[in-house]
Formats: sequence, C-alpha cells, structure tokens
Amino acid sequence: MAVLTHLTSQEAMDLENKYGAHNYHPLPVVLSRGEGVHVWDVEGKQYYDFLSAYSAVNQGHCHPKIVGAMTNQSQTLTLTSRAFYNDMLGKFEKFATETFNFDKLLPMNTGAEAVETALKLCRKWAYEVKGIDENEAEIIVCENNFHGRTTTIISFSNDPIARKNFGPYTKGFIKIEYDNLTALEDALTSSKNIAGFLVEPIQGEAGVYVPSEGYLTAAKALCEKHNVLFIADEVQTGIARTGRMLAIDHEEVKADILILGKALSGGAYPVSAVLANDNVMNVIKPGNHGSTYGGNPVAAAVGIAALEVIKDENLAENAQVLGELFRSELSKFIETTSIVNAVRGKGLLNAILINDTEESDTAWNICLALRDNGLLAKPTHGNIIRFAPPLVMTKEQLLDCVSIIIKTLKQFE
Ligand SMILES: Cc1ncc(COP(=O)(O)O)c(C=O)c1O
Repeated sequence: MAVLTHLTSQEAMDLENKYGAHNYHPLPVVLSRGEGVHVWDVEGKQYYDFLSAYSAVNQGHCHPKIVGAMTNQSQTLTLTSRAFYNDMLGKFEKFATETFNFDKLLPMNTGAEAVETALKLCRKWAYEVKGIDENEAEIIVCENNFHGRTTTIISFSNDPIARKNFGPYTKGFIKIEYDNLTALEDALTSSKNIAGFLVEPIQGEAGVYVPSEGYLTAAKALCEKHNVLFIADEVQTGIARTGRMLAIDHEEVKADILILGKALSGGAYPVSAVLANDNVMNVIKPGNHGSTYGGNPVAAAVGIAALEVIKDENLAENAQVLGELFRSELSKFIETTSIVNAVRGKGLLNAILINDTEESDTAWNICLALRDNGLLAKPTHGNIIRFAPPLVMTKEQLLDCVSIIIKTLKQFE
C-alpha cells in the first residue's frame, strides 16, 4: 500500500493497531478533517467534537487566524534553537505575560514538560530563596491528580495504570486529599521543607471535580502564610475553558507559578509555558533548563494568534454562558431519568455521572452510541463522561448537541 493511499476507517485502525504502540484505547472513529466545532471521519460523516483534544482546541478546529499565523511563520523561519535569539519569541513572551499579569514566561512544548519546569523552578526557588537545605524540598500534590506522564510526574500519581512498573519513583512529594483545607494546613505545618503546592483548579482527568467555592482562595492564603509557592496547573482548565481566562480567575486567585499548555496553541502545534514573577523566575540561569523546540518562532506566532482569538471572539464569556445553559438543560433531563446521576463542571468543562459502576462499560457504550448519533466524547473514568466542546460553539449548536446527548442517553434507560 502506498503511504498516501486513501484509507477506510477500518484500514486506518488496523494500521495503528499493527504498527503503533498500544498506549491509548481510542474510540473507534477515524478523523480526517476538522473545522470549528466539527470533525469529519474518513467516510465523510460529520460529528460535533465534544472533547476538543482534551481542551486543546478551545478556539475550534483549524482556526483560520491560527493556521494563518502558523503557515506564515513556517514559510519564514521555523527553528533556531535558543542558541540564538529569534524575532518572535520576545513578542510572544510580552503578549502572554501581559495577558496573564506575570513578569516572565519560560516556553516549553507539552503540558508535562511545563509541569516538570514548574517543579524544577519551585525546588530551585526553595533552595536559593527560601533557604531549604539541599535535596530536602517537598512539594504538596493532590490525590487523583493528573499532571502528565513523565517519570517524576507519575511518581506522585495514584492511578495504578499510570504508575505500575515504572518505578523507582522520584521522591519529594506529599499527597493530600483534594479540596481539603485541613489536609493542606496539616501538610504545610508538618515540615519546614515545603516548597510548593501543585494543584489543578478543577481536576479534569479525574472526572471534572470542581472544588468547593473558596477552596482555591483559602489554599493560596495558606501557602502565603507558610511561604510556599502556589502552583496552578491550568493546562486543561486554562485559556477560557471554564468561562474565565483561567479557572483560578473565578476566585481572583493569583498563582505564584502558572502552568499553561494545550489551548495556548489552539491545537495547532505543541506550545506550553510556565509563568512567574521575577522573584521566582530569576533563579533560572543559562544551562539550568531548556528545550530545543521550546520558544521556537512558529510556536511563538501560534501562541500569539491563539490568545488573540480567545480575546477577539470573547470565548471566555461564551464558555460561561453556554456552560450554564448546558448544565441547566442536562439537570432538567436528570430529574426525569435514572441513567444519569449528576452533571457538574464550570464553563464548557463538564461531566455527567452515569448511574452504573466504575467497572461497567455503560459509559463506553454510551460514547459509541453518541458517535453513531454524530457527537464525539469519551469516558474519563469508568462511569464519567467528559463534555468539552470547542468554545466557538453557538447557542443553537449547543442546544442541538444537548438534544443528541439526551436522545442517546434515553437509549440506555
Ligand atoms: C492538568 C493537566 N496537566 C498536564 C497535562 C499534560 O499535558 P500533555 O499531555 O500536553 O503533556 C494534562 C493533560 O491532559 C492535564 O490535563
């Protein structure tokens, strides 16, 4: 078979299964095109995308402004490495730091790399500014966290599938219950070596767990009291997904270290970043950290365009309004049915809880039926389905999606 031969869905899946590592369990659908809130499979069937590549495609598929910026820059200069300056990175750094109100930005590529960067930055600050003894720094993390897949990050995961047989694990992390301020205060007072508290403002992968109102504000205040850095992982929740530019903006909390990824590029290209003020970021010196592709001119051009689209098209406001509509429509349905127990979320990051066990395959089967009915979503855990469409959706489209979801759920009553 010639490499560029047109494939049927079955042929494409067979190729991936035979020649690709089996590190994912995809829903059986093969996509070949995307535009706005829609994607199309290789047979030409149209779907609403209700995952948005795990919230990377907030600006919609193939946004012309983002693709235009990427194409222009790709034809001009793609990669210099950071051995030299390039004429795009500074512009991106200025625009992003002004947008998020920080002194400095450190560019990387993927979310996991940005989390690793934040952990290194926090440790270095702890030794050089806070004065913790070398190799003694500890970072508090939350149970059921998801911060990526590197060896260090999975060291403090409690998902057995992500962890088992990947040891030995990196030390220096204390795990506490999410959304539990007493546990946080106990951990902060348990040792003089605490450097940071790493937290997802909403736990996305765990099943869209929204913490109690005031949790983030109180957690930040506790961190301040103990001279500990508050590190917000907004890789999934950031860039307008939850109805504000950042999920911590709902409580007007300012992070000491902010981690961004995914929609920082609108899904066009891997772009991630860590932002902090000078008192933290200035501990990083030449040679301490880096990445060949981090901060390349294409990433910088894409990052600027992606943030401009969010602002120009008021996507945070749209996510806020449509999210409320989505939850209120689903809540009305839930009162009439036994198949769904609850809907929860913020903005357009939502999940429904299917009335079955975590081990059941009901949620998976519902996602197959949603696919047949023209909408793509995926369970996060056994009985939880996440719904995160692109934020460029209209009210009419959202209501159309709600009716597809309700019609599908009724098939399982
Ligand atoms: C909160 C959070 N942090 C980090 C990551 C890792 O990002 P990446 O898959 O780009 O490495 C993810 C990915 O889902 C995430 O949701």
